[in-house]
Amino acid sequence: MFGKILDYNIRNNIINIQYEKIETRVSIVNSNIINFFAPIFRKKQASYAIENLKFEDCDFEVVEINDYIQIKTSELTVNIYDEFKIDIYNKLGELLCEDYRGKREPFIKNCAGRLDIAIQEGHKPNEHMDFKVFMPKKLEDDMYFYGFGEKTGHLNKKNCHYLNWNTDDPSPHGETYEKLYKSIPFFINLRKENAFGIFFDNTFETHFDLGKENSKYYYFAAIDGNIDYYFIYGPSVKNVLKGYTYLTGTTPLPQMWTLGYQQCRWAYCPEENVMEISKKFREKEIPCDCIYLDIEYMNGFRVFTWDDKKFPNPKRMIKKLNEDGFKLVTIIDPGVKVDKDYKIFNEGLKKGYFATNKDGIVHTGWVWPGHSVFPDFINKEVRNWWAENQKNLTDIGVSGIWNDMNEPANLGVELPLDLKFNNDGEIVEHKEVHNVYGHMMDKATYEGIKKSTNKRPFVVTRACYAGTQKYSTAWTGDNQSTWEHLRMSVPMLMNLGISGMAFCGTDVGGFGYDTTPELLSRWVQVGTFTPLFRNHTTIYSRDQEPWAFDKTTGEINKKYIKLRYKLIPYIYDLFKECEDNGLPIIRPLLLHYQNDIDTYEINDQFMFGEKIMVAPILEQGKKARMVYLPKGSNWVDYWNKKKLKGGQYIIKETPLDVCPIYIKEGSIIPNYPSINYIGEKEIDELTLDIYPYESNFKYTHYQDNGEDFKYKDGEYNLYEFCINSGENIEFKSSVLNNGYENTYKSLKLIFNGIKAENVYQGDKSIDFKILNENTIIKAKNLDFSIKII
Ligand code: GLC
Repeated sequence: MFGKILDYNIRNNIINIQYEKIETRVSIVNSNIINFFAPIFRKKQASYAIENLKFEDCDFEVVEINDYIQIKTSELTVNIYDEFKIDIYNKLGELLCEDYRGKREPFIKNCAGRLDIAIQEGHKPNEHMDFKVFMPKKLEDDMYFYGFGEKTGHLNKKNCHYLNWNTDDPSPHGETYEKLYKSIPFFINLRKENAFGIFFDNTFETHFDLGKENSKYYYFAAIDGNIDYYFIYGPSVKNVLKGYTYLTGTTPLPQMWTLGYQQCRWAYCPEENVMEISKKFREKEIPCDCIYLDIEYMNGFRVFTWDDKKFPNPKRMIKKLNEDGFKLVTIIDPGVKVDKDYKIFNEGLKKGYFATNKDGIVHTGWVWPGHSVFPDFINKEVRNWWAENQKNLTDIGVSGIWNDMNEPANLGVELPLDLKFNNDGEIVEHKEVHNVYGHMMDKATYEGIKKSTNKRPFVVTRACYAGTQKYSTAWTGDNQSTWEHLRMSVPMLMNLGISGMAFCGTDVGGFGYDTTPELLSRWVQVGTFTPLFRNHTTIYSRDQEPWAFDKTTGEINKKYIKLRYKLIPYIYDLFKECEDNGLPIIRPLLLHYQNDIDTYEINDQFMFGEKIMVAPILEQGKKARMVYLPKGSNWVDYWNKKKLKGGQYIIKETPLDVCPIYIKEGSIIPNYPSINYIGEKEIDELTLDIYPYESNFKYTHYQDNGEDFKYKDGEYNLYEFCINSGENIEFKSSVLNNGYENTYKSLKLIFNGIKAENVYQGDKSIDFKILNENTIIKAKNLDFSIKII
C-alpha cells in the first residue's frame, strides 16, 4: 500500500514521509502525543472530535538510520519503516507499541459446516472483514486493554472484539454484544505500569480486536476512511487521559443542580401527573432536582411542539415546578415528522436541511412520529437552525435537552448507507458520518442552549463519538431491570469515564422489564456514586419511583439520595478537576493504583474520585461480599469508621441498606447540610469530614455560583485545607481565591476517630465537642489554623 521510503521533509511539528505510492504525515502534537496519518481515502485530514488542536512547542530530532527514519522527542522514540510500519519506544528504550509484521490469521480453522442452515436457526457467523484500514500491533501476554467507550463485558477488554457503529438495539444487551449506542474509537493499553492510548480518529465502522482473532496481535481497523491515529503516551493512565482530553476536550463544568437526583419515566403526562410526582418528592422529603418529559409531551411526536391537551400551559407548569425547586428536561429526537402543516418540517424542507438519497430526494424513514426525515447535522447551517430552535423550549423555562434516538435510529431498519449529507460544501455519505450524527446534534444543542440561556448547557445524549463530552452528558441507553445489567453497568461506566465521557450514567432501576424492591435498592446505591443519577423506566413497566415499593425500599432510596446531596460539594470538586485535567468521576481502581496489578481486573469496585472507593452489591440476596483494598493506601470503612490496611481482601457484611464505602486514609470530604434540592438555601456552613491519622495531606475545594460562565472570569472561591499529623494534629484553612461573593460563613470540622484533649487556635484554647469518638469543631473564620492535642 505504501512501498519503500523515498524521502522526507520537516515542516514545523510535521514530518512528511514520501513513500513510493503515497505521502504520509507524522505530527508531533507534544513530546507524548504523536499523530500518524495516511490519506488513503481523502487528502484532507479533518476531525469531528478534535477542535482547534494546538501543537505544543517541543524539541524533537529526526534522523535517517539505515532503512528507517527515527523521530525522538524527550519522551518517545518512533522508528518508521517501509510500508509505514512503526515501532514506538519510551525514553528508557522499552518497546511500547510494535507493528505486527506477520500474516493475518483467521481464528476459525477447524470448522466446515453448512453455514446457511445454521443461519436459518438464527446463529451468526463470526465475520472476518476485509478492512480498508487494518493496523495490527504485536500483542504481549501481560497487556491489558481499557476504554472503548460504552461496551458490554468486563473492565479489561483483552481477548474481545468490538465494533463501532452506533446502534439502537433495546433487546437485553449481553456480553456478546459488540456494538451499542456509542462509538468512541479510543483505548488504553497497560503493560508493566506503562500505559499508552490509541485514538483512532476514523468515523466509519471501526473494529477493535484485542487478541480474539489471534494471540499474536491486536488490531484496530475500519471499513473505509483514512489512517489517522494518535499515540498518547502515559506512562500513567492519568497522563494518557490528560492527553486524550487535550485532543478531544474535557467535560465542561456543569450546572450544580445537574448533579442532584433526577426522575424520569416513559412517560409522565399529563401535567397533573408531573405535578403529582413533584409533590410526592417534597412531601416525602426525598431530594430531587429534576423531572423529565418523555416523547408524550409533544403534539404527535413533532419535535419542538407541545400537546396542548396534556400540557395546556407548559410555561405555567414549568414556573410552578421551578418554584418548588425542580428543573424540567424534555426529550428531543432527530426525526422530524413529515407533515405539510408543521413548521419545522416545512422550514427544513424548503431550505434543504434534511438528508437525501443518492438522487438528491429527501429520504423518509420511520420513527415515533411515523414518516420522518432526518436533519443533516453535519451541515453547519442546519446545526445553527437546530440551535435556534432550542429557544422554543428554553424560552419557556426548559432547563435541559435529552437527545434520544440520535444514532440515528430508524425503528429497527438501518438507514441506507449511501444517504447524502453536506459537510459544509462537501457531500459525504451516511456510512462515513453515521457515527458522528448524534455527536453533531449534541454540538448544535449545546450551542443553542448556551446562546439562549447563557448558562452551562445540560444536554443528555444516547449516541456519542469521541469528544462528545464537550457538549453533552450521556446515559447508556435501554438497559433492563436485571441484576446482570446492574453488574454490567459498573465496568461500562468506568470504561466510559476513561474514554472521556466523564458525565455518564445508567437508567437507575433499569429501563426495560420490571424492577424489584431489592434491585432498585441496590441500584440506587450505585446511582448515588454515578455522575448522572437518573431513575428511568420504560412505558407500561411497573412504577419505580423511590416510594413505589414498601417502606424499607423507600427508606433505602431516601438514605442514599440524601447521601448523594451530602456529597455534592465533593462531586462538584471532581467535576472541576475533570474540566481541568480530564479525570473522570467514576474511575477504575487502576487509575490511582497503577502499581498494584491486583487492581487491573477489578470489575465490581470503583473509585469515586480519589478519596472514596465503592464496592457495591450487584447480586440478589448477597449478605456479604469480598472487597479488595488496594496497596499503597490505608482505608476507613465509611459506616463504622474502622481503619483497614491496604493490600488485602476483606469480607464486608452487607444488609440491604449497606453499600460498602471506603474512604482513603488521609482525606477530607466536603459535605453539605441536608437539602431537598440544589439552591434550596444558601449554604452558610461547609462540613469537612476528615479522616486524619498519620499523614500530611491537603484538599482543595472549589465554589462558584453553579450556573453560568462567570467563573471563567475569576468569580470563584478556592479553599485549601491542610492537615499535618504528628504528635498533635494541625489543621490549616486558607482562601486561595476569593472571587465569588457568597463565601461560607463557617466551617464544621469532624475529625473522625480523634478524641481531642484540647484544641488551640494560636495560643487560645477553643470550644469543641466529642461525639461518637470524633472531635467536632466549629470555626467562624475561613482563614485560620488550629492545633488538636
Ligand atoms: C428510547 C430511549 C428511552 C425512551 C424511549 C421513548 O427507547 O432509549 O429512554 O424512554 O425511547 O422516548
